[in-house]
Amino acid sequence: MPARSSASRRTVLRGAAAVPVAGLALAACGPGDDAQGAAAPTAPVDLGAGSEVARGGAKLYRDHNVVVSRDASGALKAYSTVCTHAGCPINELRGTTLVCPCHGSEFDAVTGKVVRAPATEPLTELPVKAAGGRIIAGPGA
Ligand code: FES
Repeated sequence: MPARSSASRRTVLRGAAAVPVAGLALAACGPGDDAQGAAAPTAPVDLGAGSEVARGGAKLYRDHNVVVSRDASGALKAYSTVCTHAGCPINELRGTTLVCPCHGSEFDAVTGKVVRAPATEPLTELPVKAAGGRIIAGPGA
């Protein structure tokens, strides 16, 4: 019965058409999922009063993805707090240790160096200066 055989084939093809939809869901996973579009300043940014960063201490400016530290001599250092592992914005500062929420990497806010994996690259240093009692950080500062 040739007519019946033809109908069976159409049914099979119709069922196969639904398969590629499952592939779309898989495509959404990737390293960019953690990054959330975090970015450090691309121009000088006024972070606030210089007195907010004590000697030997550090302050995290979450809104700008910057950390500023001050050494014992009073010199300032600034780093991007976009994690060098997969690009998450670092949102926690414990003393002078930055902790990334995504996979637990830790960085020294004074040197920018990795103190805990999985990150392997140090934080990106940014230009920083004190001007008029304010802290200015970012390229061109
Ligand atoms: Fe993976 Fe920060 S993005 S530890």
